[in-house]
Amino acid sequence: MIKEIAGIIDDFHKGVSPSGYNYEITKDLNSSYKKNNYGAFFYALGHLDLFDFYEIGVLEGYALINYALGNYFATSKITGIDLFEDYEFNSCSHSKVSEQLIRCGVSKKITLIKSNGLTYLKQNEGKIDKVRSGLHLDVSNHGQIIEEFAPYISKFSAIIFEGGSNARDKVAWMEKYNKSSLRSALYSFSETYGFNMINLKPFPSLTLCFKQ
Ligand SMILES: C[S@@+](CC[C@H](N)C(=O)[O-])C[C@H]1O[C@@H](n2cnc3c(N)ncnc32)[C@H](O)[C@@H]1O
Repeated sequence: MIKEIAGIIDDFHKGVSPSGYNYEITKDLNSSYKKNNYGAFFYALGHLDLFDFYEIGVLEGYALINYALGNYFATSKITGIDLFEDYEFNSCSHSKVSEQLIRCGVSKKITLIKSNGLTYLKQNEGKIDKVRSGLHLDVSNHGQIIEEFAPYISKFSAIIFEGGSNARDKVAWMEKYNKSSLRSALYSFSETYGFNMINLKPFPSLTLCFKQ
C-alpha cells in the first residue's frame, strides 16, 4: 500500500493528476496538514479507492476534500463527521464546510454529518461495514481519546490517526493541558488489536494502522 501511495504522490508532484485536480484549490483551507502537503497523501489514498472512507474531525475539509478529489471517478462512500460549530475550540461551521465542498466540486461525493464522533460510532455500530471501510481520526488527538475510541474503531481495516510522532506529543497544548502521550496510546492500540503500524514523521505526523 505504501509503495503505491508513494508512486501516486510522485505523479501528483509531477502534475499528473487523474481527476485533473489543481492543488491550488485547497490552499486556502486552514489545516495543520497543509505545511507538509499531506493533501497529496490523502489524494493518493482516495485514488487507490481501497474502501469506504470515514473521517471524524473535518475542520475546514482539507484532508476530506483531497481524499474525495483523488477518489473523483470512483463510487465508494465518503462520510465526514464533526461537531462543527458545537466544538468549543478551533472549529468551522457545517454551512461553511458545505460551501467548500461545493466550491471544490465534491459536494455530491461527501456526506457531512454533525455529530460527536464517538456517539456516531456507537449509534451506527452494526450499520458500518468496518471490514470494508477506512477511518481517519483527527479530533485533536491525545492518548485518552485513542483509549475512548478504541473499542469502536478496532474493526476498521485501516485507520489513519493524525499524530504519533515524538514532536507531536510535545506540542504546547498537549503539555499545557497535561494530555497523555498519543504515541504510546497508538503503540498499545496497534498491539492490542493486531494492527501493523507506520508513522509518517513530517509534522504533525500521521500514523497508519492496517491489518494484512
Ligand atoms: C484538528 S481539526 C481536524 C483537521 C482536519 N481533519 C483537516 O484535514 O485539517 C479537529 C476537528 O475535530 C472536531 N472534533 C473535536 N472533537 C470531536 C468529536 N468528539 N467528534 C467529532 N468531531 C470532533 C473539531 O470540531 C475540529 O473540526
